[in-house]
Amino acid sequence: MNEPSPTKPRPAVAPSVDPRPAVAPSGTLQVVIIGGGMITHDQLLPSIYHLQRLGYVDAIRICALNSAPLRALAEEPKFAEAFPGQTFQPSPALDEPPDKMFPALFKEVIAAMPPRNLVVVAVPDHFHDPVIRAALERDQHVLAVKPLVLKYAQSVEIEQIARGKGLFVGVEYHKRFDRRALDARGLYRRGRFGQFRCGEAKLVEPYYYRHSNFQNWFTRENSDPFTYIGCHYVDLVYFITGLRPVEVSVRGVEGEFPNGNVGFLWSIGQVVWENGAVLSLLNGLGYPDEGAGTNDQGLCLFCEGADCGAIIRHDDQFRGVSHGYVDKLSGAAFRYVSPDYFRLVPWEGEGLRPVGYGYDSVEANVQAAIRLNGVGARHPPDKALSLRRQLLEEFDKRGILATPANSFINELVTEAARLSILQSGRHAVIDYAGSPSVRMRT
Ligand SMILES: NC(=O)c1ccc[n+]([C@@H]2O[C@H](COP(=O)([O-])OP(=O)(O)OC[C@H]3O[C@@H](n4cnc5c(N)ncnc54)[C@H](O)[C@@H]3O)[C@@H](O)[C@H]2O)c1
Repeated sequence: MNEPSPTKPRPAVAPSVDPRPAVAPSGTLQVVIIGGGMITHDQLLPSIYHLQRLGYVDAIRICALNSAPLRALAEEPKFAEAFPGQTFQPSPALDEPPDKMFPALFKEVIAAMPPRNLVVVAVPDHFHDPVIRAALERDQHVLAVKPLVLKYAQSVEIEQIARGKGLFVGVEYHKRFDRRALDARGLYRRGRFGQFRCGEAKLVEPYYYRHSNFQNWFTRENSDPFTYIGCHYVDLVYFITGLRPVEVSVRGVEGEFPNGNVGFLWSIGQVVWENGAVLSLLNGLGYPDEGAGTNDQGLCLFCEGADCGAIIRHDDQFRGVSHGYVDKLSGAAFRYVSPDYFRLVPWEGEGLRPVGYGYDSVEANVQAAIRLNGVGARHPPDKALSLRRQLLEEFDKRGILATPANSFINELVTEAARLSILQSGRHAVIDYAGSPSVRMRT
């Protein structure tokens, strides 16, 4: 959507790291996280522990396929240090054999929640849709890690179900909360960069990801590097410029995971935007494990004014901080450090607190669900629903929180990318006439 420049300047930066709550709590949420893998460990659980400590979150439960990842989370020494005394309830129980699988337990866990609490969806990409639907069916708000779902039609249905019930669905596109992205959005929409014309983005995750649980699900038929991480920069270009993508082609490079499964381990994508601008995107699972990185990422958008060039360049890898350690506890003795994404740092309270846009994003989404409950709290059901729908529309229009209604271009791009990569990079076209749809270019 090419939104008009706002008449009132938008704030150029995200909320500060001031530990006081940005919005007075009007209630708390029980939180159930479905999925106990890497993203739950690195970002979601520590953020939610902090929100619990601030009074936004009540009980926390985590449901995984088996007990093994839950045990790892429960015994993580970093959490004991940062969040002393805080725990979560595991499903299945920690004493279940680690190799016993509970593929349908998430449904029981969600069904046992009182309505209008929060389900955080952190399962593999292709499994988001059934978990989100199970949550909405049981009247729960949802925060889903990206990509929301793999098909546009699924996102439309999810949006309709949620709106029908006055429930919040947020997509955890945390790069939106990076101050550099918020600043660029504000300035772009005030015309400071003219028009985006040609650019490149890159996000290459470490090689060791191939040895993780990824090898069990990150296979050709389920996902690929463009879908998994390229989507962050597609969303960011849309977030900054408001331009809609109209054509996508993605070429994948296949390889074998250590367990023999075959997946796309690298990809190069090209996205054409509605003003004719082109973005190339390089993604992969292959940054050297001991590289300073600890991954490689960034964005460069060349733009044009009436008679001049303009540029937005974000080095998202090296953020000006490097550490050389006396040990290798972080995997290598020398690392670039990103205090911007997620760090646990000393604060005025007990333990450590999370800082960075990874935390800001979770906080903003949790607060949105609480606000939504709050606006209807003292009204009869019909009035409550209409007030809640108004607030949902405000979230959609403001466009800072990613919702199904304001981030649907990502599902269109993902759908197009999946078609393209499975056909060796053939071009897929996104058509916005009538109901948006994706087709191969003839
Ligand atoms: N930068 C980011 O935004 C970012 C980074 C990493 C992952 N992610 C997203 O997060 C999601 C999960 O990724 P990850 O890296 O944590 O993967 P992971 O493989 O480490 O973990 C997946 C988790 O899902 C659980 N799971 C699978 N099936 C389940 C079921 N039926 N019931 C309950 N739990 C089930 C597994 O037990 C596991 O704990 C993916 O969609 C991924 O794209 C986003």
